[in-house]
Amino acid sequence: AAVAVPDFSGEDGYKLWQRYDVFNAALPAGSLNVVGDSDTTHIIRDEFRRAFGNRVSEKQGTLIVQQLNNELAARFKLGDNVSAQLSDEGFIIKSLGDDMLISAKTDIGLLYGSYHLLRMVFTQQSLDTVNVLQNPKIKRRVLNHWDDLDRHTERGYAGESIFDWHRLPVDKDQRYYDYARANASIGINGMVPLNVNANALILTPMYLQKVKALADIVRPYGIKMYLSIKFSSPQQLDGLPTSDPLDPAVQQWWQAKAAEIYQLIPDFGGFLVKANSEGQPGPGDYDRTHADGANMLAKALKPYKGVVFWRAFVYANDAEKERSLQAFDEFVPLDGEFMDNVIVQVKNGPIDFQPREPFSPLFGATPNTPLAMELQITQEYLGFSTHLAYLGTLFEEAMDADTHAKGPGSTVAKVVDGSLFNHQLTGIAGVANTGMQRNWTGHIFAQSNWYAFGRLAWDHTLSAEHIANEWIKQTLTVEPDAVAQIEAMMMPSREYIVEYMTPLGLHHLMDSGHHYGPGPWVDNLGRADWNPVYYHRADKQGIGIDRTAAGTNAVSQYAPYWQERFAQPQSTPKELLLWFHHLPWDYTMPNGETLWNELVRYYYRGVEGVTDMQSRWQQVKPYIDANQFRQVDMALQIQMQEAKWWRDASVLYFQTFSERPIPDGLPKPE
Ligand code: GCU
Repeated sequence: AAVAVPDFSGEDGYKLWQRYDVFNAALPAGSLNVVGDSDTTHIIRDEFRRAFGNRVSEKQGTLIVQQLNNELAARFKLGDNVSAQLSDEGFIIKSLGDDMLISAKTDIGLLYGSYHLLRMVFTQQSLDTVNVLQNPKIKRRVLNHWDDLDRHTERGYAGESIFDWHRLPVDKDQRYYDYARANASIGINGMVPLNVNANALILTPMYLQKVKALADIVRPYGIKMYLSIKFSSPQQLDGLPTSDPLDPAVQQWWQAKAAEIYQLIPDFGGFLVKANSEGQPGPGDYDRTHADGANMLAKALKPYKGVVFWRAFVYANDAEKERSLQAFDEFVPLDGEFMDNVIVQVKNGPIDFQPREPFSPLFGATPNTPLAMELQITQEYLGFSTHLAYLGTLFEEAMDADTHAKGPGSTVAKVVDGSLFNHQLTGIAGVANTGMQRNWTGHIFAQSNWYAFGRLAWDHTLSAEHIANEWIKQTLTVEPDAVAQIEAMMMPSREYIVEYMTPLGLHHLMDSGHHYGPGPWVDNLGRADWNPVYYHRADKQGIGIDRTAAGTNAVSQYAPYWQERFAQPQSTPKELLLWFHHLPWDYTMPNGETLWNELVRYYYRGVEGVTDMQSRWQQVKPYIDANQFRQVDMALQIQMQEAKWWRDASVLYFQTFSERPIPDGLPKPE
């Protein structure tokens, strides 16, 4: 591909984890031989040139990058069935003497293999004898941008949207290529450039030309285009009297629209749909089910192998039914009714991307419906882009949660990768944190969340710690002591936020609308289920929301194993205690403390965590580029002020109910 090389420096964060100058490396061979003449093989050559310039190792051998054939298989002793072991995106890397081979069944596989080798080099792994075979565990690994056509990004904290619809399709900004490279390097193979609160205009011929331009740019990087759509598009765009999914004219409208899209974008991935949620139109407007709506779209996409990601994030302002119950109750009865090119996209937890939630009870409850997991990379409820929160640990916790749906070991990851219920259609979505800021994500460390999403989407068995280590070495420093210090900042960083915002299972206490800063006292919003008081239910007696059988009975949606445990506070994991129980202020915690004292201690602990991060960051100063150091240093100062703000506001507010003193040994709120 004729791609201009951007002249942006690595130090300001622009190059993400593709700096290639943190550690100056040489090609791990004497020469490079990339075989092929596709856009993708050109990208591979370009990437090696960026990484190594003209530097080659002393070894005399050749690094061969070439699609699999019998001769290569024999020469590199790959075994008879190597081809059968590889998916279309999989790759092998194998050394033989001084030579090394990257091979795959497709050029995209070669690209993934090349990025994997680069990662091995730049994270300083041994290359003496390499023998790697990898396939992605989840097939559709998609970034969901909540970006509007006017470049506002809903829940975006890194500046304007990177998608400049005004200038497209002619202006093919360099950023699009850099975006595609970054995604390909971590295995992301799908993108939805438009907000789930979709604008119908995206499906007009004018916008589809712009979408096509983007799709053409990202295609050689293995990335497919998907679009979020507005369910009422037939009415909004062409004046149809209805958007009822069972109306033949509506069905035809979508079929014609699909044909129009595939004419422009033959490998179009499909639609992402938010329907009958937070005011969005949907099949429910016509008394039809989510399955009716999804299947109508699925039928239109089916001839072209497109899929529908139908979101399960639905809840109504229902006085009878507590919010966390609603998605399960709407979707479980529809299990088995969706067409085979529909995948239901479920947020990791049953409420909404809180610093900590239990896993959504939908995981494991729909054996006949493939489920994609939706994670939020952007930090809507975790301090936007000023708080340092490494979310690899959150994503890992969400993946590793054991639903017990088919006995122990029925993890959410196995639901999502299709292995638990034997599904071929598998997907995972991450709500992106990109924007026009030089460093893409607002906070340098927020880059690690984009990175971690991609790596875990490819291989959910990787540990959050391993991924953090990879990211640090490629982005910040390879100096071992500094790497260890930074890892020690990242690994507990999300927990610190849980502690100073919403410890012990508290949730949704952020201030109204924007979700930044504390607002546990808010109780005047238009909808009860948007008010923080709905979630903490503090009173003179105690705090927490009772979701047991005596309360909202959300526990009944989980497998019996969890039902039993969540039923009693003593057997509920401590970090989810107040998610499931309303407990007296003097309730005795396992360590003998009262609930009130423990709660307050957590708030203080979170602030101490930020102090710890600050002191570690000062220690690594000599090993970090000055500009990167400064950006993070300043953000940590903001985080410090705001952690105290969260602590003091929360403790003082809850104290008005508990009427108990701050426990001994803790300083008074500031
Ligand atoms: C949250 C978020 C909204 C978003 C919604 C969704 O409620 O605050 O901005 O639209 O999730 O996921 O659809």
